[in-house]
Amino acid sequence: MCAIEIEPGIRTQRLRLRRPRRADAARIAEYCNDFDVAKMTSQIPHPYGIADAHAFIDRQDYKDPAREVTFAIEHPEEGFMGILGFFGNAEGRSEIGYWLGRPHWGKGYATEAADRALVWASREWGRRYVVAGHACDNPASGEVLCKVGFLYTGEVKLLASAARKGETPVRMMVWLA
Ligand SMILES: CC(C)(COP(=O)(O)OP(=O)(O)OC[C@H]1O[C@@H](n2cnc3c(N)ncnc32)[C@H](O)[C@@H]1OP(=O)(O)O)[C@@H](O)C(=O)NCCC(=O)NCCS
Repeated sequence: MCAIEIEPGIRTQRLRLRRPRRADAARIAEYCNDFDVAKMTSQIPHPYGIADAHAFIDRQDYKDPAREVTFAIEHPEEGFMGILGFFGNAEGRSEIGYWLGRPHWGKGYATEAADRALVWASREWGRRYVVAGHACDNPASGEVLCKVGFLYTGEVKLLASAARKGETPVRMMVWLA
């Protein structure tokens, strides 16, 4: 394991990205229990409750920070808004994933968080490239990824989605530092 320092965290123009904490659990449960959030992710089940949120936060302590880093996205007035993370995918690549609670959509926050997190990943975490995938029925995430510099690889994978209880086609993308 290598020492990865994510405190005091990443600052963007309007946001702070910091380590998730137990006080985030209620908001995580509220936001993730929205099927329109969960269905766009691979891992979030539906329905999603407070025990799921606590388990998610507890799991962070056991992750290898050389492979996997998770940030809570926080706004100074709005508080906790969502999650952005990098994880090692099945092919051993660093992949980005994120979600925001529905009240915070459409204000440019995902783009702002992802843009700065990628700078962090290249400068502080030593990543030369990062992969991403968005469900074919998720054009908003495709816009976010294009805006922060991802390019489509042309590959479409059928990947499992816990909330959909099945597979969904996912458009794969790559970002080069
Ligand atoms: C996807 C998500 C993170 C976007 O967050 P956000 O803060 O609203 O994103 P931004 O405001 O930074 O950018 C969204 C862009 O998508 C565009 N957009 C939104 N809905 C769209 C749609 N149906 N079709 C095309 N573009 C769309 C917006 O216009 C915006 O682009 P613009 O700034 O050029 O106008 C958020 O909707 C979310 O959490 N969804 C559920 C979970 C999820 O999809 N996670 C990603 C999995 S790959």
